[in-house]
Amino acid sequence: MDFQGKHILSIEQFDRDAVEQVLAVARQMTPYVERKKRCSVLDGAVLASLFFEPSTRTRVSFSSAFNLLGGKVMETVGMGASSLTKGESLFDTAQVISGYADAIAMRHPEAFSVSQFADGATVPVLNGGDGSNEHPTQALLDTFTIFDELKRLGKSTDTIKVALVGDLKNGRTVHSLSRILSLFPNIDFTFVSPSALAMPEKIMNVCDTQGHRISVTQDLSTGLQNQDVVYMTRVQEERFDTQEEANLYRGKYRLTQSIYDQYCDSSTIIMHPLPRDSRPEANELSDDLNRNPNLAIFRQSNNGVKVRMALFALVLGVDQQLKKHESDVQWFSRK
Ligand code: NCD
Repeated sequence: MDFQGKHILSIEQFDRDAVEQVLAVARQMTPYVERKKRCSVLDGAVLASLFFEPSTRTRVSFSSAFNLLGGKVMETVGMGASSLTKGESLFDTAQVISGYADAIAMRHPEAFSVSQFADGATVPVLNGGDGSNEHPTQALLDTFTIFDELKRLGKSTDTIKVALVGDLKNGRTVHSLSRILSLFPNIDFTFVSPSALAMPEKIMNVCDTQGHRISVTQDLSTGLQNQDVVYMTRVQEERFDTQEEANLYRGKYRLTQSIYDQYCDSSTIIMHPLPRDSRPEANELSDDLNRNPNLAIFRQSNNGVKVRMALFALVLGVDQQLKKHESDVQWFSRK
């Protein structure tokens, strides 16, 4: 796929080759992320980072990725600090910000808002999450992580068995992840959720149309068995009408070391897009798993930098020029 100048809005834009292309460029970012080398290919370029919803790792890793390629970042955080609260349309904001930046990373609470924004933008827009719709860059980093972890364990990728657990209705990461995995052959999906928080039909149909096996269960112990990957998620309480309603589901599914020992294979990889909700009433992914070598959550969040660097390099058309702009690192680094 020719990425130059393109927006990254949904996994619907990708075929398997395009995903492989991003993952291959992401792998080339390893020396820069590990501070073995530095790269200044985006020297002089400016990223506008517009996050109108809470975010830690997505926002910071987009910025870190742009910085690590030598670019500069301007940030706006929260709706309150922007003219959208004065009634400005997404189109107008997009036209204006396009005049100030070479690329835009954006998160917004409403589904499809980032696409509407992109209609008004003249520079590439990368969707950092639009309501409960999609989170394409997270899906790319999740896929990178799944392949990396299976390789680490010496496991085959001919068939991949994945359980997605929790709020599958409102969680945008699981929507994008199901779409992206569907592009690969032989995925065994197990969707574990309360019936009220089930995976939307639209996404199930994508998995089904591609010929993958799908199991649906409300029972965690059934869902955990015989999986390569267990992907836990947080109840997206900000998407519920009332806190009382969200409380009905918080804490319903909890993965602890003893539950892992009881039901999971000893090689099952544990993932979570983070943040995990560590408050006692939720605690979907217990801290007592922190020493489990298959807890991949922090490797997963680190992979976000490589994948976002790859996307910037591709959409700005410099993916072939990385080596030319490489130099040595002068400072001490333990990474
Ligand atoms: C997720 C998100 O914002 O959709 N976090 C992330 O970007 N890594 C998941 C969540 O908030 O639960």
